[in-house]
Amino acid sequence: MSLPQSENQLEILLDAEKIQRRVKELGAEITAEYRGRPLHLIGILKGSWVFLADLIRALDLEVTVDFLGFTSYGDGQSSSGQVKITKDLDSSIEGLDVLVVEDILDTGHTFQYLRGLLSRRKPKSLKVVTLLDKPLRRINPVTADYVGFTIPDAFVVGYGLDFAQKFRGLPEVRVLHLTPEQLAEVRAPAPR
Ligand code: IMP
Repeated sequence: MSLPQSENQLEILLDAEKIQRRVKELGAEITAEYRGRPLHLIGILKGSWVFLADLIRALDLEVTVDFLGFTSYGDGQSSSGQVKITKDLDSSIEGLDVLVVEDILDTGHTFQYLRGLLSRRKPKSLKVVTLLDKPLRRINPVTADYVGFTIPDAFVVGYGLDFAQKFRGLPEVRVLHLTPEQLAEVRAPAPR
């Protein structure tokens, strides 16, 4: 897959300062809600770890962390909900207050699968924070408990999010203006 090269293919949507400000606000909101209770964060690999690393430092709580990785298979346009776990949780979540940390809520297939998988493991409570939300792309009518930014229907990279495994290290979120062929390919079956 050829990667976008020119600057106009990488237009800034959210600059680093704006993201950092919002992550601090989310941290304060979550701290207020869970005050005095230990919180177990579950980062969804791979897109969420940059966000999780900043969020955890914005929380004034007793926090533990685990990660969950899986591959989803799509229908050429989106992830379909057919899922294989590539990295399961290291420990039980039974009886814990769990907060899932997601990079982006798109069609909602991933979120719906995750919610089913994790609630069967009997946490005390289960909530989700997503850095980005693209409601215009939603197929499953799901909503996150905490949303960093609601964004338009665009393909974005940076701050943990990738295109063909590239651009995760950008400190800001940028829009990639992809060709229809690139977009079809990036939304085709592929490891998350
Ligand atoms: P969903 O199952 O369609 O909601 O897809 C969610 C997953 O798709 C995210 O966790 C991302 O890994 C990936 N994804 C969706 N939209 C984008 C995007 O704009 N940029 C990068 N990854 C995306």
